[in-house]
Order: sequence, then C-alpha cells, then structure tokens
Amino acid sequence: MIIIGSDHTGIELKNNIINYLKAKNIDVIDQTNYEDQSGDDYPDRAYEICKKVLDTKGALGIAICGTGIGISIACNKVTGIRASVCTDKYMAKMTRQDNDANVLCLGARLELENVYEIVDEFINTEFAGGRHQRRVDKITQIEKCEKEGVAYGGSL
Ligand code: RB5
Repeated sequence: MIIIGSDHTGIELKNNIINYLKAKNIDVIDQTNYEDQSGDDYPDRAYEICKKVLDTKGALGIAICGTGIGISIACNKVTGIRASVCTDKYMAKMTRQDNDANVLCLGARLELENVYEIVDEFINTEFAGGRHQRRVDKITQIEKCEKEGVAYGGSL
C-alpha cells in the first residue's frame, strides 16, 4: 500500500504517480486536501501522510512539495518516520536498503529525469537489516531520548 499526498505545488505530479501505480495494480491512498489546492501547507500534508503510513501495516509513503525538502523536514518530525528526499534512483534504492526509509519525498518543481524510476526503486527495494538495523535503531533511540528530554549517549 502506498500513501501519497502533496501540497498545492505537487498535484499534477502526484496524480501522474497515482495513475502509474494504479496501472501496476498497486493500492494507493491519496491524502491530498482537495478543499484547498491553492495554498495547502506542506507540514499539514506531511503529518497526514505520515500518520496514515504508521497506521497502515507495510505501507510506504510518497510526499511531494515544491522541492521535496520542506515536506521531508516536516515528515521527519513524526516519530517513527524516516523520510528522504531523492532526486535519482540510486538515492531511492539506498535509503530503503540502508535507512529503512518509509517515506519518499519528491520535488515537483525539480526537473527529475525519471520520477517513475525513483518511485519503482523506492517501493521495490527491501531494507537490508544487519549492521544497518543497529543504525536505524539508533535513530529510534534519538527520538526516544528527545521525547524523554534526556541526552542521547550514542550507544544502545
Ligand atoms: C510552497 O510554495 C513551497 O515552499 C513548498 O512546496 C516547498 O517547496 C517547501 O519546501
């Protein structure tokens, strides 16, 4: 299951990606706010996409704003989310493989060479685990320390 959404800058790209995924029989939930397409703020969209990703077993998210940057910053404030802006398929592959990223962020105003390749790589790559699991666990540990107001010590 793919949870997708965009601010007002990314409506067209988002719709194209939805059509692309649906043509491949991949289930998609569209988290776009159709009430306000002129000035939909990316933090609002980020929060809804991320909550839905966390609530849906096995789901990955795709979050779009003008650059992909603002929405990625907002997504990464949600505990349990690892969101990455990717501008090519190598980044998309590596962030799934090494970081177990669960949200792909895309920039609608960038001239991405082949956005569908980036999407494919992201949704088809598995997390490698092993030594990468320890590193991802440390990200979770930082979240926990921040929530509890204690310093992160760097080890688990
Ligand atoms: C909205 O104009 C724009 O700031 C937003 O889409 C995004 O690029 C922010 O990072």
